[in-house]
Amino acid sequence: MSRYVGAIDQGTTSSRFIVFDKHGNIVSVAQKEHKQIYPKPGWVEHDPLEILANTSEVIGAALARANLTASDLAAVGITNQRETTVLWDKATGKPLCNALVWMDTRTDQLVQRFTKDGGQDRFRAKTGLPLATYFSGLKLLWILENVEGARKKAEAGEALFGTIDAWLTWNLTGGANGGKHVTDVTNASRTMLIDLATCDWDDGMLKHFNIPRACLPKIVASSAVYGEMETAPLRGTKLAGMLGDQQAALVGQTCFAPGEAKNTYGTGSFLLMNTGTDPVQSKAGLLTTLAYQFGDEKPRYALEGAIAITGALVQWLRDNLKLFDVAPQIEPLARSVEDNGDVYIVPAFSGLYAPYWKDDARGVIAGLTRYATRAHLARAALESTAYQVRDVVEAMEADSGIKLAALKTDGGMVANELLMQFQADILAAPVVRPKMTETTALGAAYAAGLAVGYWQNVEDLRANWGVDKTWEPKMAEDVRARHYKSWKKAVQRSFAWVE
Ligand SMILES: Nc1ncnc2c1ncn2[C@@H]1O[C@H](COP(=O)(O)OP(=O)(O)OP(=O)(O)O)[C@@H](O)[C@H]1O
Ligand SMILES: [Mg+2]
Repeated sequence: MSRYVGAIDQGTTSSRFIVFDKHGNIVSVAQKEHKQIYPKPGWVEHDPLEILANTSEVIGAALARANLTASDLAAVGITNQRETTVLWDKATGKPLCNALVWMDTRTDQLVQRFTKDGGQDRFRAKTGLPLATYFSGLKLLWILENVEGARKKAEAGEALFGTIDAWLTWNLTGGANGGKHVTDVTNASRTMLIDLATCDWDDGMLKHFNIPRACLPKIVASSAVYGEMETAPLRGTKLAGMLGDQQAALVGQTCFAPGEAKNTYGTGSFLLMNTGTDPVQSKAGLLTTLAYQFGDEKPRYALEGAIAITGALVQWLRDNLKLFDVAPQIEPLARSVEDNGDVYIVPAFSGLYAPYWKDDARGVIAGLTRYATRAHLARAALESTAYQVRDVVEAMEADSGIKLAALKTDGGMVANELLMQFQADILAAPVVRPKMTETTALGAAYAAGLAVGYWQNVEDLRANWGVDKTWEPKMAEDVRARHYKSWKKAVQRSFAWVE
């Protein structure tokens, strides 16, 4: 039997390939960033061909680094930035335009068009989602309406739609020569085009949005053998797992029981709680989404608090304001002052997602005085992450009726200990960092490994989870209340900016 399982983690900022052993330890990893394309305010694009090339490159690099070949891998799973939308030519494999990235806001006019009669929540009962620029179905509609020839090709089945999971899978399993055109339930649940109850494309939604069925992929389980890789160096290796990145992190954190939850701090931050085999409707501004489906088992659902911008604000301070050279330097800078100097940043760069769902919000820095320094900005940036997470934790507790005993965390930002302590302080609850924080890739590996019997069941996976560090809240209640009140005030200031 092969010794390892591989995972492609195609994220918003970079692509990774990680090889895991049976205990969920990393054997080898390679990573490469891709270009972020900002053609105008609010627009964010990626080049799908660059993403594909980088994915192949990191697979090769990670294998070479540990001297591995295809025969060392029992299977490969894919996890991906969600909602990012590609439409490509079935005959040539060429994208009809750049990918519209999840945080792109150009569909705001479409959102308005559909909100006009029936309101923002008119499709919530069926799809679990509010009308917002975030989801992939309207991004596809934008392409169909704005890219020349797109609709005609899509209707004829000559152009194929997919989020990044489908784009990579189609290419890796043969592309124009018989590539598999599939997407898993978790990614499909972000299109706003499926019925949550049946996990299938919904005729009513397709009709509302005028989306031709002919361009849509087949919806499959998150853990199943989809096909074999057709490209070197993994030719013949089974592709057997597919999960949106946040759902993959839920699996990587082994949140398999209803009520179990995790929060991932990356480009954005995403709190997901497993709600078992029933979709739970949100009244507090969360999303209802597919959590995973393993083989023939019933699909599992989750409540999700999606925050668009957390780590991306750190990148913005680094790249646009040049406050530091690399992300980890934000921590000593922020620690060089005692507190935020009464500065609050609301990073509503793409509007505000959960629990507010305001497409027309834009970023604000509030509370500036002559006293404020770059160190206060750094501190306010980290704190804005913690406040946004408290907003969604409160919504999660309201919707689920479950008080979070502790917050399980992962993602790139959890290296920041100042943030972790502040998070515990502002939540008034312990914050737990597990030993393995690459949970996104790990979840995809788990899905693939389960499908081919590399792991037998979820108990095998649970045994791999362990705590690295726990932060206990230390802040006085009155200080916490004062800070959070100011945060809420700043959030109000960000609303209704775009007219
Ligand atoms: N020490 C740190 N302190 C604060 N933020 C950090 C630190 N290290 C990394 N980050 C931020 O974390 C993010 C990277 O985390 P991670 O790699 O989990 O992101 P990601 O969301 O998985 O990326 P992608 O979107 O490409 O998948 C970046 O936005 C970066 O600014
Ligand atoms: Mg990621």
